[in-house]
Amino acid sequence: MFTQRHLLGIESLTPEGITEILDLADHYAKHNLKQNKHLDVLAGLTQVNMFFENSTRTQASFEIAGKRLGADVMNMSMQASSIKKGETLIDTALTLNAMHPDLLVVRHPHSGAVKLLAEKVNCAVMNAGDGRHEHPTQALLDALTIRRSKGRLHRLTIAICGDIAHSRVARSNIFLLGKMENRIRLIGPKTLMPSGVDKLGVEVTDDMNEGLKDVDVVMMLRLQKERMDGGFIPSEREYYHRWGLDPAKLANAKPDAIVMHPGPMNRGVEIDGTLADDINRSVIQEQVEMGVAVRMAVMELLARNLRKSKEEATTC
Ligand code: NCD
Repeated sequence: MFTQRHLLGIESLTPEGITEILDLADHYAKHNLKQNKHLDVLAGLTQVNMFFENSTRTQASFEIAGKRLGADVMNMSMQASSIKKGETLIDTALTLNAMHPDLLVVRHPHSGAVKLLAEKVNCAVMNAGDGRHEHPTQALLDALTIRRSKGRLHRLTIAICGDIAHSRVARSNIFLLGKMENRIRLIGPKTLMPSGVDKLGVEVTDDMNEGLKDVDVVMMLRLQKERMDGGFIPSEREYYHRWGLDPAKLANAKPDAIVMHPGPMNRGVEIDGTLADDINRSVIQEQVEMGVAVRMAVMELLARNLRKSKEEATTC
């Protein structure tokens, strides 16, 4: 059961909680194909999106999800806000809290910032990515995409490739896919492996051809240069040659292996552009589609838990 007040990461979820979210998201994925998508599940609730870091798909996805469920949605432009004038994160949180939002969606460049904020507010908080720590809704939408494509979410071999060290997407996926009893292989240059990788319960290699052997899923990651402060890779050309996904390297995987990428993609750096668009192999567009469904599911469950805790508080 998903009984949490916030969604801050995958690490604290149970396999049952994950399955509950995915089952509800599956229902919303079907609902989202209807012409009339409007529902009133979140009617009367206020959702505020606070993005302290650039985002295209994640912010749009949370906004569409909230609107489809009937919430009042506000996007706060953190570039233009008082943050630029030196207000601390806590002050911003307290100011917002005084406006009584019900759901707060937060993306922040520092690991742990979203948790800190959640401790200061009365509403439900969703982590939309904090530093290199976690990006829980991305891992959930990846899981839903895999489950729909493979018919199951256990006993699969899944390769996560590229810049693992700087990736919150990789961390959340390692937690989720591990909890669901899959075999995980991390592939990438040694310089882009996180410290303590040996404690994660995964296989590690720097050889793409060897690592992709017989995998069911190939998950590619963006080279996150904005988080690199030195020479982690030789050159983009050499990186593509050794770790970029192209048809020749993909030939090592199972013939029905799917290709994933959380976006934004650097075509010709971590992935061949034609392969990324190949609808027979790539599920990248479906990941975006599942993103809306997963966020609808998470918001419905958090709103339910929020109502329950408010009812309990008034009957005490
Ligand atoms: C990811 C992120 O922001 O962590 N993108 C996303 O949410 N779709 C991955 C990335 O930026 O490379």
